[in-house]
Amino acid sequence: MGIHQAVNSRHDDPAGHDAPDKVVVCGVSKAFAKGGGELAVLEAVDLTVQDGQFVCLLGPSGCGKSTLLNIIGGFERPTRGSVTIDGEEVARPDPRRVFVFQEYGIFPWASVWDNVALGLRHMKDKAAQSEIVQRYVDLVGLGGFERTYPMELSGGMKQRVEVARALAVSPDVIYMDEPFGALDSLTRLQMRSELIRIWQAEKKTILFVTHDVDESIQLAERIVVFTARPGRIRDVVTVDLPHPRDLGSAEYGRVKNHLYELLGVSHTI
Ligand SMILES: Nc1ncnc2c1ncn2[C@@H]1O[C@H](COP(=O)(O)OP(=O)(O)OP(=O)(O)O)[C@@H](O)[C@H]1O
Ligand SMILES: [Mg+2]
Repeated sequence: MGIHQAVNSRHDDPAGHDAPDKVVVCGVSKAFAKGGGELAVLEAVDLTVQDGQFVCLLGPSGCGKSTLLNIIGGFERPTRGSVTIDGEEVARPDPRRVFVFQEYGIFPWASVWDNVALGLRHMKDKAAQSEIVQRYVDLVGLGGFERTYPMELSGGMKQRVEVARALAVSPDVIYMDEPFGALDSLTRLQMRSELIRIWQAEKKTILFVTHDVDESIQLAERIVVFTARPGRIRDVVTVDLPHPRDLGSAEYGRVKNHLYELLGVSHTI
């Protein structure tokens, strides 16, 4: 634990979040075998996420964002370094932590209700189970669609089912890998504000991968900006703007310019 505490102190959150450290990534590098050689994907990544924080991982395509999320989630092992959650090293996936992906992971043969209930099927107290399912169906705005099947839902509604299913198991960390990437831009905006509302109500730790600068500013308390592959942390930007965020404000524009600078791209064309 000592070594991780030393790392934490270097990554104190400037926003003054005094919640305990939840996820600690310490010196993580990852290389994949490629045609007899190696492909370096992540290099010396150090990151601390506090309990209840909403953190976006932002970087260009192929910089290793999904790989890092998979390492934190226990689906991949780092080549070097370690990840701990609540001080325990992550070595495998853990049911207390859930992933929400872009691809629709809900089951087409199951109703909204049954999809959300999936992670609770072990519960013996069926009344308590029903209460939880209803609570999250309502929270994501799908009340009235409990008996509907995925083929009758829009893309945004399907993503809401995924979010409800993830929340229903009462996870302590939620990993989201471009969950709204396949949605049209209006639905994406709406899903972001709904996600913030849910995060504020549920106080979960969320690690959210995106390559969309606006998405990261709309959502995150902290934005971890990566370089191109091999991904290293370029900087961690604190977004100290109250929700709902005013996308037209001068401060929003300043954060956006700063992020584009860090990413090394011009956003005037
Ligand atoms: N299992 C794997 N085996 C070999 N190479 C992999 C594997 N997973 C990822 N890579 C490589 O690692 C690099 C980073 O991939 P990753 O999916 O983490 O990027 P990303 O930042 O999530 O990109 P995007 O924004 O496009 O999703 C890519 O070059 C990819 O080809
Ligand atoms: Mg990815």
